Amino acid sequence: MNVSQLVEPDRVHRRVYTDQQIFDREMTQIFEHVWVYCGHESQAPQVGDYYAFTIGRQPMFMVRGKDRQIRVLHNRCPHRGVQLCGNQKGNAGSALVCSYHAWSFHLDGRLRSIPLQKGYDGTRVNAENPDCSVKPAARVDSYRGFVFASLSATGPSLLEFLGEAKVAFDDMCDRSPVGEVEVVPICHRVIQHSNWKFFMENQLDALHPSVTHQSTGVAAGRIEKKLKEETGAAPFYYHYLSAFASKFEQWDAVQTINFPRGHGILKAYMGLRPQDPDTRAHEALLVKAYGAEKTEEYLSRSIHHVLVYPYLSVQSPLQQLRCLRPLAPGKTLSEIWHFRLKGAPEAIYRRSLWYYNLVNSPATMVNADDLENWTKGQWGLESDGGDWVSFHRNYGGDTEEAGVIYSNNGTSEAVMRNQFRAWSQYMADPQ
Ligand code: FES
Ligand SMILES: [Fe+2]
Repeated sequence: MNVSQLVEPDRVHRRVYTDQQIFDREMTQIFEHVWVYCGHESQAPQVGDYYAFTIGRQPMFMVRGKDRQIRVLHNRCPHRGVQLCGNQKGNAGSALVCSYHAWSFHLDGRLRSIPLQKGYDGTRVNAENPDCSVKPAARVDSYRGFVFASLSATGPSLLEFLGEAKVAFDDMCDRSPVGEVEVVPICHRVIQHSNWKFFMENQLDALHPSVTHQSTGVAAGRIEKKLKEETGAAPFYYHYLSAFASKFEQWDAVQTINFPRGHGILKAYMGLRPQDPDTRAHEALLVKAYGAEKTEEYLSRSIHHVLVYPYLSVQSPLQQLRCLRPLAPGKTLSEIWHFRLKGAPEAIYRRSLWYYNLVNSPATMVNADDLENWTKGQWGLESDGGDWVSFHRNYGGDTEEAGVIYSNNGTSEAVMRNQFRAWSQYMADPQ
């Protein structure tokens, strides 16, 4: 298959969203090759804690060992293949024990014991044979508590892979006076009936909110206005919703920065630095911890979303993280997480929780309206109604410096063009 014929600088063929062969190749050359987000270290705080997930098509889990290291292992028993962790998360105790014939493994994956071991005398089954231990991910690393693994022994380091997109984790953690976040152990899981690329494109698509989210934004804006008139102020969280109904021109005035490997940033469009007592108390803690200059540097970063291509959308100012696990060309699992800033006032955490529930959870109209578009998009692209998907908006109008594409039009489809540039490179030649 000649993938290069499916992607042109200003348009892509619909097959990249619908074709099983393309999807399989994406799994091999992208997801099972790059650094993939596993979870946060705080999801496995105790020795023996594990958390299961997938990297591409591979069932994996991370587990904290007796040496307190987190390892990422294939969720497969070396005996006859049964998954070792049947639950999503839990504590394995002092060893991983298979539910089928009780082969047991140390928490680092090494074979520990087999019932009636003498039955294997003279065979190739022994503790020295690596085939008898649980297979580890080729590489594991973490950045500021966020754990990643790569199934490829070669390729860029985690920091090289993240590049400028690592600011997602800095911006999140630097807002804590101790420089750390911890996971809120509740994760919304949504199956999206659409290709994973719909989600990634949508995150920095600043043209869609005032259309797709109009009903929510306008309704919230009306109540916000009424409350302000009647009481002098409206709760902060109304702004999370009313901002969606900003005018096209306001959205277009926002910038995007599009990095190599498909990563990108949508700069801030919401006034997220109010001057209320809670914010002032939070800022005072940061000044105490870091000094005034650093605090200013941390809080003046202009970020709304950071994308780590091809699977992560991080809204660092509000400690939100969404992670994609593609399942099929037209089926994608998204995990929706939020985090608590360690050492920050409870009121600041409440803002994160409000945003989580009002904007990102499956219970909101915001998320539901996006999901409906993507499902209908998938249906359209599976039809014979046309072969090409257009990314012409502001084509030719972007500035590129050292591989970074800057767009002063928030609604520019530079975002999608940049993602497909990375996609083509991955699909042509693993990096
Ligand atoms: S399959 Fe795991 S012990 Fe047999
Ligand atoms: Fe949206």
